[in-house]
This record gives sequence, C-alpha cells and structure tokens, in this order.
Amino acid sequence: MTLPRALRRFWHPVCTAAELAASGIVGTRLLGVPIVVASAEGRLLALHNRCLHRSTMLSAGWVCGDTIQCAYHGWRYDASGACVEIPALPDGPIPSRARVEAYEVTAAHGLVWVRLEPGWPTVVPPHPSWDDPEVHVAVGEPYTWPTSLERRVENFADLAHFAWVHEGTLSSRAAAAPPVPEVRRDGAELVFVYDPPPIASPDGRALVGRSIYRVAVPGTVDIEFDVPGAGRRHLWMTVAPLDADDTEVRCYWTMSRSDDLDGDDGPYLEFQELILEQDRPLIFAQQPRNIPFEPGAELSVRTDRVSIEYRRWLTQIMDAADPDALGLILG
Ligand code: FES
Ligand SMILES: [Fe+2]
Repeated sequence: MTLPRALRRFWHPVCTAAELAASGIVGTRLLGVPIVVASAEGRLLALHNRCLHRSTMLSAGWVCGDTIQCAYHGWRYDASGACVEIPALPDGPIPSRARVEAYEVTAAHGLVWVRLEPGWPTVVPPHPSWDDPEVHVAVGEPYTWPTSLERRVENFADLAHFAWVHEGTLSSRAAAAPPVPEVRRDGAELVFVYDPPPIASPDGRALVGRSIYRVAVPGTVDIEFDVPGAGRRHLWMTVAPLDADDTEVRCYWTMSRSDDLDGDDGPYLEFQELILEQDRPLIFAQQPRNIPFEPGAELSVRTDRVSIEYRRWLTQIMDAADPDALGLILG
C-alpha cells in the first residue's frame, strides 16, 4: 500500500477551530477528498463536500438546525450524511440513495480533526502543552507548502541541516557534524533527545539547548526545549496532507512558553517564521515531493538516524494489512 493510502487511517487536522467558528461552515480537503465541516447545534459534522443533486459544494450552503443545507435547491443533510429534506418534494419520498459520505470528526488543540477511514487503532496526536495551565500557547499562522507530510516531518526533526540551513539562527557551520541520538519508540511516538554541540548560541532569540523530540507518527512533532534561564518551551507542529498523492500540505503550529506569560507573542512567532523562511527554499526544491521508499532511492548516512527510524516506521505502517497489525506497530 502507498503511504497516502495508509494516511487515510489516521486523524488529520482540516481547519482551525477559529476558522470554523468564523462562519460555522468550512470547505476543506484531506488526501484529495473534498470535505465540508460544520458546527451545528454544538455538534461537529464532516461530510463529503458535494451535493448529490447537482454537485454544488455543500460548503456554499449553511447550517440549518442540526443539518447542512445546500444553497442551490435547499436539500438538507444530517450528521450521518443522510438527506433529510428535499424542499421541492414536500411530500417525499426522499430517495434511499440520497446520502453523502460522513466522516469521523472531533475538535482538539484548537483544530478540527477528521479521519477518513474508521475502525483503525489511531488517535488524535497529543499536544503536550495545550492544556497546561502553567504554559502560554502562542498559535502560529498555518501555512501551505508544496511537499509531502513525510518530507515536512523529516525536515522538522532533521538535526544535520541546522548548521547549513539555519546558520546564524540555530547553529553554525562549525557544528556541521551533529550528534547521533538514540531513537526509541514510545507508543505511537518516536522519541529522541538532541544535545546541541557546545557552540555559543548564534542568535540570542534561538532556543539552543537540550531538546526532547516526540514525533507522533505519522505527522506531528513536539519539541520540548530545556534552555537555561528560558523556562520551558514547546514547539509543536502537525502536518495535514491535502491532496490524494500527498504532495501539498498545510501545517499548523504553536509555540508555548512557561515564562514571560504576559509578554507579546510576536517575537516568539516571528523567530519561528524566520526559521521557516530558511527551510522553505530547500523543501520547495526537493524532488520528488514524496519520499521514495524504494531501497537505494536516496542515500542515508549514519547521522540520518532519526530519518532512518522514521522511514522504517512509515514502511511498517504501509505494510499493516489490518487494524491488529497497525495496533502492534503503534504500540
Ligand atoms: S445542488 Fe444541492 S440541492 Fe440542488
Ligand atoms: Fe529547519
């Protein structure tokens, strides 16, 4: 099975809770599937975003009671996807085929999450600092990049690129040989500790210090920084694959801190945006956008330990034939 196909079994964000709150109904897409999400009478709905009647996007419509109403001729669909009203046929009958696909949907960490395929032992990935009362969470602006979920995660957890892509902000060429961490699995997470080489922080704003990385497979990374004098910091990021072949992603991210609780979020977010701008040209230049999983297609070396382990896990996820097999892989 291909990775994009296997990703259908996992939960992915489809929009922010704020985006949904703004209008109550949002058209979005996940792995090539057009989805309409709506908040109706306090309940979340996620349906295939195409009216069965004349194929208008349901997201052009509105919430009506506990249903979504199509704007074109007023057909209404409930949370199960069943059409419950055809205004042009007040006496019915409603055809039994009048049902759009409905998806599992939930809200967590300020995001709306959807899983396309039910019945798999997958959960919404954790956000370790979201509900921590001692921590302030600054929410970054989501961004869309022409890459795959797996390339985006690899870049986020790549220790060898700091000296090159982030010279002057996170590291220096003098530290071109990165430490090779021990990588272990903890449940559905890949965990490792990064001890930066003993170089002076090249930028006073940089978080250079012992960092605990938790990669919740397949698409979420939390980095907890233990920086002397800076309190506790978390950089959290999750990647949503937008199209069917997983070559465009929307990334959602937060920057949390246990110090400077009343301070302005601006400088914290702006520094991360600077880091993103440094990564951007290299990610945009990667071809193919997906990781090629054929043996030998890319050359790894000893210092690519994290990537090697991540790819090994993704390969196992692709090979999992049933929920029990996936359950074993995800701990
Ligand atoms: S296209 Fe939706 S009701 Fe006609
Ligand atoms: Fe980077």
